[in-house]
Amino acid sequence: MRRTMHRRRFMGTTAAASLATLAAGAADPRPAGDRKPIAVSSGNGLRAVEKAVELVKKGFDPLDAAIEGVAIVEADPRDHSVGFGGLPNEDGVVELDAAVMHGPSHGGGSVASIRNVMHPAAVARMVMKRSRHCLLVGEGALRFARAHGFPEVDLLTDEARAIWLHWKETRDPKDDWLPPPSKEVAAHVDEYINKRVTGTIHCSVLDTHGDLGCVTTTSGLSWKIPGRVGDSPILGAGLFLDNEVGSAGSTGVGEANLLNCSSFLVVENMRRGLAPKDAVMETLKRIAQTSVRDPRRRRDDGKTTFQVSFYAVSRKGEFAGGCMYPGGKMAVHDGDSARLVELDPLFEK
Ligand code: GLY
Repeated sequence: MRRTMHRRRFMGTTAAASLATLAAGAADPRPAGDRKPIAVSSGNGLRAVEKAVELVKKGFDPLDAAIEGVAIVEADPRDHSVGFGGLPNEDGVVELDAAVMHGPSHGGGSVASIRNVMHPAAVARMVMKRSRHCLLVGEGALRFARAHGFPEVDLLTDEARAIWLHWKETRDPKDDWLPPPSKEVAAHVDEYINKRVTGTIHCSVLDTHGDLGCVTTTSGLSWKIPGRVGDSPILGAGLFLDNEVGSAGSTGVGEANLLNCSSFLVVENMRRGLAPKDAVMETLKRIAQTSVRDPRRRRDDGKTTFQVSFYAVSRKGEFAGGCMYPGGKMAVHDGDSARLVELDPLFEK
């Protein structure tokens, strides 16, 4: 019953979501320029880069195009790392983080630990456009979203709840929750229990005028302590841009980016002349150097315990991505077509 409701809601909102998201604070399109647009995103962002490039080709602002692109994934219950269907905190409540940056105005806005809103990235844009603040959190962020007419929805799908419940029932043999009979555990559940979800979606867009926009949106670390805020809504950590230089963003374990202002560092590396690929690799090296000073983040072989990935595009239109360990992917649209590419790792294993 509950699944049917969610499914129907999803079917009903996917098309509407796009329009609602554009309507919620997007600028009117201007005539398209003559430069080839570029969009880069995380591995779950193929549809996002397709949508973003389609929109900037029609003259939409690069940030509005990026937000519209990631809105597809925010509304997709099959992606358990973002928006509707995201995995919840340890209490079973979905709390979302998102931030945006707009190149031409050097504006930025974000929301953290917001509940019950499917499109936190669009709320972050509203914070940027319709408040004097950069970051709203929790109840205040929800009230701000409500004031601007964002609909409230239950973000916890049946599938995400089943995965969370399995985690809850199996995490501690000494507590009073008993594991379900194994025949009742769906195959996909173990996949999420054995590997903690640190997904997220980032999208950086260079438009046909050479202007930049970027967004990062996530449900954060699965089973997080309620109120935990990751890197995604923190300007400079989960994303950053300078319209004169380039744009960058990240997915993976957010604490590493909070401790290193990592997306800012990628852009600063490009500012001092590094190509996006080198800018990303230098940032990964910095994270690797600083993180292992804490034994909780250091493996026996001296490398970091976690995965983190970056996506970058320069104002000139060069783009690249990289990750700490193999396995990361990047979605790219080079103005002609979209594809997924493997990210280059800093460490082979
Ligand atoms: N990078 C997403 C998070 O750590 O919440």
